[in-house]
Parts: sequence; C-alpha cells; structure tokens
Amino acid sequence: MPILTIEGNGPLDGNVVISGAKNAALPCLTACILSAEPVTLLNVPQVEDIKTMCTLLRELGMVVEEDGDRVYVDGGPISSHSTRYDLVKAMRASILALGPMLARLGRAEISLPGGCAIGSRPVDFHIAALKKLGAEITLEHGNIEASATKLYGADIYFDKVSVTGTENLMMAATLAAGTTIIRNAAQEPEIIDLASLLRAMGAKIDGDGTSTINIHGVESLHGATHSVIPDRIETGTYVCAAAITAGHLRIERCLPNHLSRFLEQMHRAGLEFEVGSDFIEVLPHKGLSANDVQTQPHPGFPTDMQAQYMAVMTQAEGRTLITESIFENRFMHAVELKRMGADIRIDGHTALVTGPSLLSGTDVQATDLRASASLVLAGLVADGQTIIHDIQHLSRGYDRLDEKLVLAGARIERSAI
Ligand code: UD1
Repeated sequence: MPILTIEGNGPLDGNVVISGAKNAALPCLTACILSAEPVTLLNVPQVEDIKTMCTLLRELGMVVEEDGDRVYVDGGPISSHSTRYDLVKAMRASILALGPMLARLGRAEISLPGGCAIGSRPVDFHIAALKKLGAEITLEHGNIEASATKLYGADIYFDKVSVTGTENLMMAATLAAGTTIIRNAAQEPEIIDLASLLRAMGAKIDGDGTSTINIHGVESLHGATHSVIPDRIETGTYVCAAAITAGHLRIERCLPNHLSRFLEQMHRAGLEFEVGSDFIEVLPHKGLSANDVQTQPHPGFPTDMQAQYMAVMTQAEGRTLITESIFENRFMHAVELKRMGADIRIDGHTALVTGPSLLSGTDVQATDLRASASLVLAGLVADGQTIIHDIQHLSRGYDRLDEKLVLAGARIERSAI
C-alpha cells in the first residue's frame, strides 16, 4: 500500500497549475454513452476515478483512448447494458451511467454504488426521477435493474439538491420525448459544464446554473469536442495549503468565480490574495483568525472544502464553528487531526475547532478523498514526520497533489510499505 511521508517545513512558495475538474469530467464521460458518434474531452484530470470510469465505459463495449489530459470516447460500438460490481463499488459516480444507458439502450443494470464513506448517500432521488420519465426500475440483489422502451419528459422536483441526481436526470432527459423540467436542481459549475457538453452534442437545455433546468428532448445526439472546467476543489485545496503554511502561492488555470463563497470566508479569516479571471495569488499572512462556516449546496460553502478548511482553522486564533449540512458522517478527518494535536470537539453536525494548536507529525489514516487532503495540509505544518496511510483515496481525486506541492517547496515522499 502506498503511503505519503510529509516533513513539516514552513511556508510554501511557488506556482501550481490546476487540472480539470474530476466531478465535471465524470458526468461528461458518461454523457458519451448518449451518442453513437465520438466525443473528445480535453483537460481531463489524470486521477483514479477517471480511469475507473474509462474502464466502465470500455466494458460496455465503447472505445476509450486516454492520452494525457485528452480522452477520446466512441459510443458507436456499445454492446452491453450491465456494469461490473467492483467498478461501481470503487466509485459512487458510476451511478452516472444509469440515466444515459437507459436513454440510449433502453436498459441498464448497475450495482448500488459505493465510494467515499461519508454517509449513507442513497440514490433514491435518481431512481424516483428516472421512474417519472417512464422507466421501470427494480432493486434486486444489490442491483438496480432499469428498463424503458421510451422515456417521456416530466416535471420533476428534487426534495433535496442532488448534484449527480440532477446530472443523471439531465442526461436521460436529452433523449426523452417532450420537455423535462428539473426543479430544485443543483447549480454547481459542474452542472453547467455538463450542460455545455450536451448542448455541443445537440441537446436542447436551458436554465443550467439556476434551480430550474429545462430539457427539450431530441431524437439523437452527435459527436463533439469539449474542454472540462478547472477543478474548483483542487483550487481551494491549494488556497488552503498556502493559508495553513502562511505561504505565497500563485494558483494558475483556475476559475476563481467558481469558489467565491469559499474565498470570501478565507478572506474573513484574514487571508489576503489577488484574484484574476484565471488565477489566484495567495499572499503571505501574519496570522489567521477563527471564522465560522456552514456547508451548503452551490453557491454556498462547498462540503468538499470542509475538511481542508478545518485543517486551516486548527492554525487560526480563536474558536471556529464548522457546520456540515450536506452529509451526516463527514468529520472522520477530525479524529485524525486530533491525533496530531488539534483541539476539535464534534457534536452531531458541528465541529468546534480551537486554535492555534501545535500539530505534531504521526501516522494517520486517510478515510475519504477530501479527508486525505486535510491530513496532507496538516502535515505541511506539523512538527516532524506525518505518515498518511491509505492514500488511494487521495489518488482517486487529486491529480499529482504531492508532485505539485513539492514544486512549491513542500517535502513529501510517496512510497510503498
Ligand atoms: C456530489 C459530488 C461530491 C459532493 C456532493 C455535494 C460528484 C461525483 N460528487 O456527490 O463530491 O460532495 O455532490 O456537493 O459530483 N441524497 C439522497 N438521495 C439521493 C441523492 C442524494 O438522500 O438519491 C442526499 C445525500 O445523501 C446528501 C445530499 O443528498 O445528503 C446531497 O448529495 P448529492 O448532491 O447527491 O451528492 P453526490 O451527487 O453524490
């Protein structure tokens, strides 16, 4: 099993270049199922979840060629309607194949998904919404079995904002007869990116980026070329890396307007930075202060930044209350941060962080993707060596995180034990 060894060594200083967004590239890849013509995706991050999704598409019979950050997908030869359990188990986003398979093939068999252990994370919204489009869906032996001779547009309200739920439905509705309206839709930049690809493929969609999305079904979709948006969570993670080390970091090829609320909160905590249309330059600071946050669907403070923010607040002066409103079990990193010396009290959905704490390096366990990132951040300022185990979680979603940090002056080594 690979481990990361980090030697805390003071402020970062340098540049990092942001990769494409994993959470945008994943639905873009499954959108390729919808067309018999080839789609080329550019700026795709080189992370494990993308490799898993490419394997899933190949096993459906599709031709997938990965060449650096460019992925060519030909959905012409698709021949299977079922996905392998171990692929779906490895990655919850495999559920994103359900809507497109149903729309293009009229049939889909997919295991109930796994992924990060950050709560029960059901897929009931996906299933209920696809049923409203006319699909017949049964759950048997841990499998979702779905079929539909034809999908029909419908007016659908999500009880809770769901990112992949919105994406699944949006994709299925592109080939449904008539108009689908998605109410209480997710408004994340990744939704807009997927809608842009689908439009380039001939879909008729408007309202993406708002809470009501309209999809007017078409007969078929054609090929396209699309460049995936930069990863806003990777961007935010580097802002945190600069903040926790009081470093100076220029973060390039990002879209700062995709993380406005997060940047606003970092500024409130005392972080200074300059922002351009495609870069953020974090400036050295002389101390951060406590600042409460609550996670919310976009445009609120992202739950995917909560763990990293918590690591930064261990070094801020005062008491920070962090409220997690999206997932019920997303404080696993707190236990490991406490083992490094952080003062954190968990009470249900809230974490009270009192800082600044002197962190000391030790062996810690990565439990999910963003939790792993928070441990890396803590390791950058801990006294001595931090050894992070189970870093496969990190590799699922961060494109060469250790290499990029090393270029900015961090001391990190990847090795196997
Ligand atoms: C996506 C992101 C993930 C991010 C999350 C919230 C991808 C691949 N993953 O996950 O990184 O943390 O959005 O921003 O884009 N829910 C249900 N039933 C459902 C679906 C969701 O109850 O059928 C609940 C979830 O348990 C959670 C909430 O709705 O409490 C939001 O989850 P959702 O937006 O669906 O998360 P994902 O799309 O899985």
